Amino acid sequence: MDSILFKKTKINNLELKNRFLMSAAASAKVTEDGDIIADKPLIHYRVARGGVGLIINGAANVHISGRSSIKSSLIDDDERIPSFRRFADRVHAGGAPVSFQLTHGGLWAGAFQIANDRRPFAPSYVIQDKLCKYMSPNREDCPATEEQVYEIIEAYGDSAARAKKAGFDAVEVHAAHDSLLAQFLSPVTNIRQDKWGGNIENRCRLHCEVMANIRKKVGAGFPVIIKLGVCEDLKGGLTLDDGIKAAEIIAQKGDVDAIEVSQGLSSSDVDFNGMSIKTGINSIKKEAYYREWTKAVKSAVGGGALVIMQGGLRSFELMEEVVQNGEADLVSMCRPYICEPGIVNRWMEGDREKAKCISCNNCIIEGIMKGKPLECGLREKLGVPDYTKE
Ligand SMILES: Cc1cc2nc3c(=O)[nH]c(=O)nc-3n(C[C@H](O)[C@H](O)[C@H](O)COP(=O)(O)O)c2cc1C
Repeated sequence: MDSILFKKTKINNLELKNRFLMSAAASAKVTEDGDIIADKPLIHYRVARGGVGLIINGAANVHISGRSSIKSSLIDDDERIPSFRRFADRVHAGGAPVSFQLTHGGLWAGAFQIANDRRPFAPSYVIQDKLCKYMSPNREDCPATEEQVYEIIEAYGDSAARAKKAGFDAVEVHAAHDSLLAQFLSPVTNIRQDKWGGNIENRCRLHCEVMANIRKKVGAGFPVIIKLGVCEDLKGGLTLDDGIKAAEIIAQKGDVDAIEVSQGLSSSDVDFNGMSIKTGINSIKKEAYYREWTKAVKSAVGGGALVIMQGGLRSFELMEEVVQNGEADLVSMCRPYICEPGIVNRWMEGDREKAKCISCNNCIIEGIMKGKPLECGLREKLGVPDYTKE
């Protein structure tokens, strides 16, 4: 209990018992209507029991046009509230607060939208290797009109209000990885020449409008987080300078309480190492792969927003150093909790050995990609102790 990582803190009005967050992890158990299935056993419930300060749920779409497959969940209608309320109740029963991650698939939802006779929604129509397979065959189909952009902004705000109604304690806007907002930030996928494209101020205008709309609808005291991709693994993509500038602009507007730093688009959807879920993190040197970017965001936003570091964090002492040095205010992991839900309790009780997770992505390949509930299939083999006190 000696460590700064166990010190209480606050995101806006929400009290956290420590500095550990769980980053969003889609669970893949979704009904055809877009409801999530929060039945037993639910990994997020066990993580809550395991001592974490705040859990972020897997991303749910704010609008039907954002759905990229039948497996992606929706929060576009009040009818969806009960399923998410069950999820929030389960996490609360485990003893942790929970934040709702809001997203939209944009380009990546294109193929599914067309297959379902709907118009895809994306910043621009662009030709690029990876992107082509998602594109509409009809150029005119794709770029969102001004009216549609505003419809989506409202959808983010309305969905945030639904998340609050469902009992969630915070919301996080997904603006990293492949999300629509990452696509608006990227000069590769956003080649618009209106006020939503061009320089970085224009490319992050949607982010600012979305955050303002959410703030209007959830109120001043409700915690609002953004997971922002500040650089890309894509030729001609978002530069770190522009990503940091975007973080600064978004923080300056004052509608965001915390920024979770991640990467934006990647050039491949099969090579995990080009994505946020890098493999082979078997030494402390390979941990914290967004450390430099996070430090840069922290020094750019100053006190304008809290900063969350994530991405390959595995060692207690590294995370302690990060928070002690002021490189970030909070630290977050994802895969280590899937492997070892009780990891925070273990560390709190004095066993500070690093996370047992070997970053193999088995939870993705053998789990959610096959439509199975989120789990780690290697827990027994890795000899993971159970600190979740069931
Ligand atoms: C099974 C799984 C599902 C994920 N789903 C999401 C998601 O819905 N939204 C998101 O922003 N990131 C998602 N991620 C990425 C994580 O939030 C996190 O950024 C990434 O795993 C790096 O952190 P780690 O090294 O601690 O796992 C997912 C990761 C995994 C392993």
